[in-house]
Amino acid sequence: MSPQILVVGTGSIGIVYSMLLTRAGAECSCICRSNYTAATTAGFTVHSTIFGTETFRPKAVYASIEEAVAEKNGNSGMCYDFILVATKAFPSSSLTGDGSSAEVAGSSSSSSSIAASITPLVTATTTLQGQRTAIVLIQNGLGIERDYRARFPHSPIISCVAYLPTTQTAPGIVHHTEVERLQIGVYPRISDRGEGDGSNSKSNSDSKSDHSLFSNPDDAAITARFAALVRTGGATAEIHADIQIARWRKLIGNAAWSPICALARCRDLEFLAAQTAQATPSTSTSESAALTTTATAQPLAREVVQRVMEEVVSVARAAGYAGEIGAADVEMQMARSAGRMWPGVEPSMLADVRAGRRMEVEAVLGGVVRVARAVGVEVPRLECLYTLLLGLDWAMRGGE
Ligand SMILES: NC(=O)c1ccc[n+]([C@@H]2O[C@H](COP(=O)([O-])OP(=O)(O)OC[C@H]3O[C@@H](n4cnc5c(N)ncnc54)[C@H](OP(=O)(O)O)[C@@H]3O)[C@@H](O)[C@H]2O)c1
Repeated sequence: MSPQILVVGTGSIGIVYSMLLTRAGAECSCICRSNYTAATTAGFTVHSTIFGTETFRPKAVYASIEEAVAEKNGNSGMCYDFILVATKAFPSSSLTGDGSSAEVAGSSSSSSSIAASITPLVTATTTLQGQRTAIVLIQNGLGIERDYRARFPHSPIISCVAYLPTTQTAPGIVHHTEVERLQIGVYPRISDRGEGDGSNSKSNSDSKSDHSLFSNPDDAAITARFAALVRTGGATAEIHADIQIARWRKLIGNAAWSPICALARCRDLEFLAAQTAQATPSTSTSESAALTTTATAQPLAREVVQRVMEEVVSVARAAGYAGEIGAADVEMQMARSAGRMWPGVEPSMLADVRAGRRMEVEAVLGGVVRVARAVGVEVPRLECLYTLLLGLDWAMRGGE
């Protein structure tokens, strides 16, 4: 029987992975909200410089998770092998200092509310119809798995980091370019590597929980099955023993560029160029000299971006990843932006601000600030960006 997959969050990322999994022979059912009419009338179309152009129709389209639950309730034999969540990540926050968790206010799409809604769709034990349901999260940020783990303590949770620049340009139509890479790992990680497992960290229970719990070997087999489907669909899928390393690595770029560009309202290269223009007028002044670093001759803007990245690295290292994360990751991220074509990229928070959408503040910034506090690392730039983004997000939602 074909693998049965439910996609919750059929936006830019969800549509591309629905296409790949459909290509691999899986039967994908998709929850669609704003693109429901387009999905039911014309299907989805992916324009990709890597995968080509393809229009496809999922097995089923539901207007809500509740509709999918009603369908399943009417069909006792129905069982999902994978529930792929590709919504924006709005995990519960715990910056109270006591590790307690508070629901993000005012969102019907917080991770905890999505986890609660999909509960009737999750098969907890292996049945004649198929395996236990695995929850696959393709989302950016830190701590995005916790609400799902809390709700489904015995279900496989597959945590994925995607490098897949994709935009839904019209309902049901996505454009993808440049790169495709999916990094996959069981949450919590498969095995202890003897280092970076929290024993050499000053972290509290928050970060220890990422390191010190070990997964059911059966979860590893289910993860391998999902990775095989993605590969059969024509994409890459790398299995990582500790997916949190990949999360930290991606966060180095995201936690710096995304909030900075959202606050500055410009793309990454535009941000650097604007600062360069201000800092290097035709006649040198003491003010312009003060805007450049004498040690490296870098414009201040570039230095600020780099320092934010270095703060993320400091936190990751203190949290147990000193062997994996370091200065080379910052150099790689800085080189990546330097090598881009003008005017650079529009990070997701900038796109969200421009579209008036909620930003992934907690996943991208709150998580790293929380771990920094737990491990006792000073992150003044990240804290500043985090609080400014919380304020901007709040104001964009009309102060709710
Ligand atoms: N796009 C990229 O280039 C990219 C690359 C790598 C990683 N990521 C990460 O991947 C994740 C998904 O990003 P994305 O760009 O695909 O976001 P997106 O285009 O905004 O898609 C999210 C989808 O989730 C849907 N949704 C939200 N709450 C829902 C709910 N309660 N029930 C059903 N559907 C719901 C939204 O529906 P509505 O349209 O109705 O709101 C939307 O279709 C994020 O964590 C992002 O950071 C994105």
